[in-house]
Amino acid sequence: MSEHKLVQDEFERTATKFAERTKGRFDDSDVVAFSRARPGDSVLEVGSGTANFLALFEDVAGQLIAVDLTHGMLRTAKTNHPGVLAVQGEGSRLPVASRSVDLVATAQVLHHIHHPVPVIKEMGRVAKDDGYVLVVDQVASERLEEALVMNELELIRDPSHAISRPASALRVVVGAAGLEIADERLWEGRNTFSQWMWPGEFPEERIERVRDFVERHGADTGMDFRKEEGDDWSFCRRRLMLLAKRP
Ligand SMILES: C[S@@+](CC[C@H](N)C(=O)[O-])C[C@H]1O[C@@H](n2cnc3c(N)ncnc32)[C@H](O)[C@@H]1O
Repeated sequence: MSEHKLVQDEFERTATKFAERTKGRFDDSDVVAFSRARPGDSVLEVGSGTANFLALFEDVAGQLIAVDLTHGMLRTAKTNHPGVLAVQGEGSRLPVASRSVDLVATAQVLHHIHHPVPVIKEMGRVAKDDGYVLVVDQVASERLEEALVMNELELIRDPSHAISRPASALRVVVGAAGLEIADERLWEGRNTFSQWMWPGEFPEERIERVRDFVERHGADTGMDFRKEEGDDWSFCRRRLMLLAKRP
């Protein structure tokens, strides 16, 4: 099955539950200040999903543009955030004029994309001369052995997962797309298994396979899994924010 079809199937199924589960996950990231967004700016997000991330810019931006492969995610985005302009599209072919957007962002999407350089290049194409490209994604351990086990786990959890990259690899991707990094911030927090594998969103059989993998290999993922009360686990989620510009 193609990469795009896998993504669409997974997110079409989960759109409304995804919006509920992930609401608020960026609230303490301070990403709006980090992105240098100015009042009235246009902000476009590639892989906006249900617009939980994009809506963080509601108070400052003049226009919010949500671009996503998956219709169901965009429908939920419009229901939850009616002010957003929702456009179905793919990250490496944005239906937007060159040099027309102040801030071109993508959050929690690159780990679904096997070949991210064309997507970041395309984001650079549509950013204004004084605009920014913002990349936010979860990162894997810099230790290859841990990164491999983490990705094995993520793929059991979500068949549309491509690869969680270490921070060093995300920097290389942005550079290979011809952009210069202006700022970066690593941001981490703890999550629980019961929240991550929400029964409302994931099939029971998948939850059990992921739980079994965590019990056997969680300690090898670099995600600092810890046994919690009841049958739950907690783990550390690390995310990198990269702010970049065309040279
Ligand atoms: C994990 S969700 C993240 C949604 C949102 N950015 C957030 O953080 O709440 C990933 C989203 O990326 C979209 N997506 C994945 N690959 C894409 C691509 N190549 N072009 C456009 N959208 C893509 C999926 O349809 C899905 O809605």
